[in-house]
Amino acid sequence: MDLKNYVTTIENYPKEGILFRDITPLMADGEAFRYATQQIVDYADELDVDVIVGPEARGFIVGCPVAYELGIGFVPIRKPGKLPREVATVEYDLEYGTDTLTVHKDDIKPGQRVLIIDDLLATGGTVKATIDLVEKLGGVVVGCAFLIELADLDGKAKLEGYPYKTLMTY
Ligand code: PRP
Ligand code: ADE
Repeated sequence: MDLKNYVTTIENYPKEGILFRDITPLMADGEAFRYATQQIVDYADELDVDVIVGPEARGFIVGCPVAYELGIGFVPIRKPGKLPREVATVEYDLEYGTDTLTVHKDDIKPGQRVLIIDDLLATGGTVKATIDLVEKLGGVVVGCAFLIELADLDGKAKLEGYPYKTLMTY
């Protein structure tokens, strides 16, 4: 299946000069969503993963069905003020801005093998911040998976030393 048929490109959103890759048509199509999920499940099967970690909001959409299918847990990475218990925190850069990410300190146990899942790798700021949070808590990042990689933004430079898989490259 060619998943690119289910991604729409919007020019100058959310800011001038950004080509926004919209995955909502892929999510809205049951067959495409299941196919994409299964590709990541197959990747996870090679890695002996204990838990999936995903940043809000689109990381939840992609990561949760993978965790469900594998029969393992999902840990949400959230923006500040959303998690009610004690959190670890890290600041990061976006393609269009900066932000902070948080995770509940006791959601990841030392030594747990973590697969990080998000919809899209752009500058790599979000995934690097997520890696930093996981490692702060003693987790071991065994891989990362994305639906889309934006090659021009060179997010892979931030993933040096970490295996990762992407289903589409633009
Ligand atoms: C988008 C996307 C990734 C991130 C990729 O999330 O879903 O998480 O940007 O960019 P990067 O590689 O340059 O960090 P966004 O922060 O827009 O949040 P959303 O998922 O809540 O829309
Ligand atoms: N997140 C960061 N950059 C993006 C882009 N160009 N399209 C969709 N989501 C993004």
